[in-house]
Amino acid sequence: MKRRKTFVFFHSSNRHKFVTVACVSLALALLFVIKLLPLLAQTTPEVVGYDDAISHNAQQMLAEGKQTFRFDTFGSEAFWGDTLKLHEAVAKLSPKKALALGLKVDAEALPADLVEQIKQGKVDLDDPATTLALVKLNAVVGVKAFLTPDGSGMKSIGINCALCHSTVDDSFAPGIGHRLDGWPNRDLDVGAIVASAPDLSAFKKLLGVPEPTVRKVLKSWGPGKFDAQLVLDGKAFRPDGKPAATLNPAAFGLAGVNNHTWTGSWGNVTYWNAFVSNLEMHGKGTFFDLRLDDKKKYPVAAKAGLGHKRDSDDQITGKLPALQFYQLAMPVPKPPPDSFNSEAATRGQAIFNNKAKCATCHVPPLFTEPGWNLHSAQEIGIDDFQAKRSPDNRYRTAPLRALFDTQKIHKGGFYHDGRFATLPEVVNHYDKALKLQLTEQEKNDLIEYLKSI
Ligand code: HEC
Ligand code: HEC
Repeated sequence: MKRRKTFVFFHSSNRHKFVTVACVSLALALLFVIKLLPLLAQTTPEVVGYDDAISHNAQQMLAEGKQTFRFDTFGSEAFWGDTLKLHEAVAKLSPKKALALGLKVDAEALPADLVEQIKQGKVDLDDPATTLALVKLNAVVGVKAFLTPDGSGMKSIGINCALCHSTVDDSFAPGIGHRLDGWPNRDLDVGAIVASAPDLSAFKKLLGVPEPTVRKVLKSWGPGKFDAQLVLDGKAFRPDGKPAATLNPAAFGLAGVNNHTWTGSWGNVTYWNAFVSNLEMHGKGTFFDLRLDDKKKYPVAAKAGLGHKRDSDDQITGKLPALQFYQLAMPVPKPPPDSFNSEAATRGQAIFNNKAKCATCHVPPLFTEPGWNLHSAQEIGIDDFQAKRSPDNRYRTAPLRALFDTQKIHKGGFYHDGRFATLPEVVNHYDKALKLQLTEQEKNDLIEYLKSI
């Protein structure tokens, strides 16, 4: 008996229990290794499978891209502030003047007590010190101040994408409200603002013309317009003597659209983002495009080597992915239900798709062609001045977006230079140019449809 007890650990019933416990422990250990260890190893515990990694990434890109679009200067203060001394001109602007130049104020950036003071009329809108206070609060859309060490004044100023591509909803007062990212600022007289900078020698050097000429060109643009090709070809005026500037386009509703800008063949959204942050905003980064070496077409760019920009302190390239992502997420604002006649719009849709041939180029629901969405000036019955400033000498089929809104989004008219003030003008133009022979009723129905998309 004694011997037996020594060599047998358990009675048979205990042995059974042991095996069960061992099996369960082993299973739990395996489960821990397979399932839980990888989870603990994740830096972000909420991310489980790759599906979740995608969703998590999307949220992160959106947040990052929004921050970049609204607030990043890409180091452009070295140009606008340190070189042009634009902050000195801004420091002299009263809030009333700043608003008149189309600058917008983000109401959400204003502290409650200031909002109260403005409401009670206690804030002096004629005092430039108020503008400085607003800029310091990061409340002036698209403009970032860099302060002197004691915080009393500005030592430099940089610009953001939001300067031209955001406006506000005027919910607080005209020019003051919630941000509307991607809505073009068609009030902004960016030319007049830049022309007020004390030192324009950088433009003088780049364009090879005297400073008064630079100022004259900048002042010719007017509200809602900017000339992105000026720093490439130096063409300031069209053959008819009008300014060569184009309207600030909407930056929303661009997902699925291939070529970008009015003349398209530059590239897609991220091409243009890199282009504009490097060459127009004068941020610090890297930009490559051999097409800009064409001395005949782009004499200014070729001379300055703009297609081979490589700053040692690149503040742009790393921000391009999220910036593009945020832009592509911006939806097209929908027309209010009572802003068009829906019965007429239904009839107009058939005209758009058939008799008027609009849908041959403006393919619904993108309203531009999937593919290489470019056309000659002749095909749309206009002059080719602006088209010829782009690599493919064509115009891009403008993706039709939020055409109902002529208060903000399409303020300043339609087409790249706003040559058609209203939708009836656009339709009459096509009727003649494409020999459509639309009746008055058909034109009206077509317009109602345009307002509904
Ligand atoms: C000074 C005003 C201004 C600033 C600042 C500016 N843009 Fe633009 N943007 C324009 C104008 C004007 C055009 C049209 C250019 C053309 O067609 O030649 C344009 C075109 C675009 C387009 C093409 C839109 C379309 O319909 O395809 C995108 C995208 C864009 N900008 C994004 C940006 C981003 C991102 C930034 C910041 C990195 C930025 N822009 C900064 C004025 C500006
Ligand atoms: C051959 C192709 C083509 C056809 C057909 C065509 N369009 Fe266009 N559409 C364009 C191009 C290209 C532009 C951009 C013009 C510019 O940038 O100046 C444009 C611009 C527009 C705009 C201005 C958009 C803006 O944001 O300013 C409207 C509105 C418009 N088209 C409506 C129509 C209607 C309505 C029809 C039919 C009657 C039509 N289009 C037929 C190519 C076409």
